[in-house]
Amino acid sequence: MIPLVSKKNSNIVKVNPGFPQRVHIQRAATLLRKSGIVVFPTETVYGLGADALDKTAIARIFAAKQRPNWDPLIVHVRDVAMARSLAKTLPDAFEVLAGKFWPGPLTVVVQKAGHVPDEVTAGRPTVAMRMPRHAVAAMLLEEAGLPIAAPSANKFGRPSPTRAEHALEDLGSNVDLILDAGPTLMGLESTVLDLTQSPPAILRPGGVTREQLETVIGPVTLAPSVADEVAKQGLASPGMSQQHYAPRARVELFEGAMDDIANQMLARAIDLRNRGHRAGAIICDEMLPLLDKTTDFVSSFGHWGEWDRYAKRLFAAFRVLDSQGVVSILCVLPPAEGIGLAIRDRLQRAAGKPRSERGES
Ligand code: TXA
Ligand code: MG
Repeated sequence: MIPLVSKKNSNIVKVNPGFPQRVHIQRAATLLRKSGIVVFPTETVYGLGADALDKTAIARIFAAKQRPNWDPLIVHVRDVAMARSLAKTLPDAFEVLAGKFWPGPLTVVVQKAGHVPDEVTAGRPTVAMRMPRHAVAAMLLEEAGLPIAAPSANKFGRPSPTRAEHALEDLGSNVDLILDAGPTLMGLESTVLDLTQSPPAILRPGGVTREQLETVIGPVTLAPSVADEVAKQGLASPGMSQQHYAPRARVELFEGAMDDIANQMLARAIDLRNRGHRAGAIICDEMLPLLDKTTDFVSSFGHWGEWDRYAKRLFAAFRVLDSQGVVSILCVLPPAEGIGLAIRDRLQRAAGKPRSERGES
């Protein structure tokens, strides 16, 4: 009997995350070689991939994501040799960093080789590259034999997809294939480190922490835009920072000791309820007794201090709470250390979404 497959979902295929079925990966690789665009998992978030040297395919990525053409893409490489072939020059720090953190969630920005298209780098003289650790991404790079340009597989401005369903929701039938290997491990995007500056600068905090980088290459700075975001206090007025990673609901941030945060959130949740607004909250288990009766929808990431689990669940929680139609999402703002730096950065940018773009009345 021929199985019934709904037309809408016929381009999604389930893949084993640890031991990917090669036949599925080969189908994806064939598509990439023919200017196709394919959603695939990495250890950070799902990416929307295309042959990095194929301008037609790159144009399809920008169209599917509705991404502005000034925002350059990350090129995923199979190994250090492939990275070398895409760079004009590589600083000494590159070898050390690749040796220590590749494959993994570290993207390095270096001078690009002449044949890397301007469409990928948005006209910049530099290229961002990383070697992913996820078995599906690694096998796809091996089977395709190509450098794969891949931004996160979300619509521009939306939270990055940590599950294949999120990519489907945002990109739907505009992509040729979605490889579904379940939820991603880390949940936040890679660290982007600019090696063309001295000392190197973090352009986007992520899975590899500033502390980890510094133990290997010495001092690393935060790019001014990152430093401004992570230094902001939790209750700073929104509307100033760059809109990104944002749910439709308003994001409100709470900082301090755990009990203080819980009490401040409680007061805010009661205030919202009194005004007839539905509220959501992303909190820790310890806060549940205080908040789960006053807040319409709560999502707990785990215990206080389990920031890796917070990172893993944040974007999915945004999407779930959005689907409940909440007006505000109250969130714990973690300390600016370790992975906390990246969580803070994403939360501050989400909270900075202009008022007019939010679903609030
Ligand atoms: O974890 C990740 O990095 C995911 C997975 C799919 O690998 N990819 C990802 O790509 O987050 P995307 O396009 O959503 O974010 C890429 C970031 C953007 O902030 C972009 O501006 C920056 O990297 N970027 C890319 N090329 C650059 C360059 N040449 N110079 C400076 N920044 C660059
Ligand atoms: Mg992105």
